[in-house]
Amino acid sequence: MATRRPARRRKRRHDSADFEQELIALARQGRFRDIVAACDKQRRHGPLSVSLSVSAMHVHGVALTQVERFDSAVATLQTAAERSEAAKNAAQALAIRNDLSKALFAAKRYGEAVAVLTRLRDQNPDEVTFARNLILVQEESGRLDAALKDCQAAVERWPDDVHLAFQLGELRMAAESWQEAVDAWLDVLKRDPDHQPARRKLVAAYRRLGDQAGVTGALRDWLQQDPGNPIARHLLSAQEFDVLDVKALPTRASDGYVRDVFDRFAETFDEQLQSLDYAAPRLLGSMMAELGLSADGNLSILDAGCGTGLMGERLRPFASRLVGVDLSSGMLQRAGERGYDALVCAELVSYLSAHPAEFELIVSMDTLIYFGDLAAVFLAANQALRGKRAPLVFTLEKGGVVDGATGYRLNPSGRYSHRVDYVRKTLERCGFSEIGVKESVLRKEAGEEVTGLCWTARKGEEG
Ligand SMILES: C[S@@+](CC[C@H](N)C(=O)[O-])C[C@H]1O[C@@H](n2cnc3c(N)ncnc32)[C@H](O)[C@@H]1O
Repeated sequence: MATRRPARRRKRRHDSADFEQELIALARQGRFRDIVAACDKQRRHGPLSVSLSVSAMHVHGVALTQVERFDSAVATLQTAAERSEAAKNAAQALAIRNDLSKALFAAKRYGEAVAVLTRLRDQNPDEVTFARNLILVQEESGRLDAALKDCQAAVERWPDDVHLAFQLGELRMAAESWQEAVDAWLDVLKRDPDHQPARRKLVAAYRRLGDQAGVTGALRDWLQQDPGNPIARHLLSAQEFDVLDVKALPTRASDGYVRDVFDRFAETFDEQLQSLDYAAPRLLGSMMAELGLSADGNLSILDAGCGTGLMGERLRPFASRLVGVDLSSGMLQRAGERGYDALVCAELVSYLSAHPAEFELIVSMDTLIYFGDLAAVFLAANQALRGKRAPLVFTLEKGGVVDGATGYRLNPSGRYSHRVDYVRKTLERCGFSEIGVKESVLRKEAGEEVTGLCWTARKGEEG
């Protein structure tokens, strides 16, 4: 007996080391559910706080956070940190407390997350990560003043850290301190002139400040730094639209501009439009009813500029075939499960021109606002429609009064607005008749209602 006891202890130690290695290997493969399942099984042999090593508990705590069992994650990481501190393993305790702050943040236990991160930052005054994370948690939990104060101090402590300087700009934008935000963005750009988000945000801050010369200057500087940049080009044209020579006016947003804006916007598009009371799906329903279309699944339909597919569900009952086309692959990725038979990544005019007489209805919601001159797109739509009286349904923005030779205007928003008589005449010239237009609120922007024009037209006799 005396000789067997140490052997059993050795075996248990060996098992525990094996188990720890198994968990670490699973963590490296990102198999967090398997880690949690393995630990749940292990619990049958006794409480995990006894049977697991500190490292294994750490891995388990991180995995519990990943599978969103936040309260268990917090309890596990808390115990692991205390045991690590008792064993005077400072580096390990630091790593565990850092993961504990992430679990608390994920659990929305912001006050506790702030307390843990404040302690970590104060104990490690040379470690920028804790300062950054603390600012993020404060911002996320609505402690804007504290976040601003800490961020300002951190920028002074780490003057070369572009992330922190950027964070300060974001916080000043959130606090609507536009002049201070301008200063922060200029500061970021001094450190990193290629910083595209800071370029965009500087323009936005000048705009909120009402400083038009600042907007123009920021766009010119941007173009000097990056001459081909489609965003800077487009927005500078918008800024200078009233003074540009007619020949120099852009007749539509470039493909690069549309892709850049919407690929970036894609992830948050649906939520943002919901928060802006986006009325297009409902308006589309009324326009279809006015056209007397019935939901009997007989039509070949094109959703032109389908984006994330917000119109898909409305159109599906009318369609024997429903195709969505859009320039932004990011937007299209989100349209995947919204009832389309095909989603095509292409420029609208090219696509329409390549599909003559293919559709019995073309719908284009909130998309032709990226076109100034509408002749090319109307003509291509007319050719892509099949059958006399096949309808075209679309929205535009009313905008302010549009004077001048063009009949449209590129606004500082980067979107065009059109004069009613211009749209009507262009539709007629491109072979449409039975033209109808109604004014309606399309969505909100910066708290203001954006008035839209809902247009319906039919392919004419000679179209
Ligand atoms: C404001 S979103 C509207 C999306 C969708 N129709 C809706 O109402 O939810 C405008 C869409 O038009 C697309 N777009 C703009 N110009 C385009 C063009 N020339 N060719 C294809 N798609 C275009 C953009 O990529 C974007 O997805």
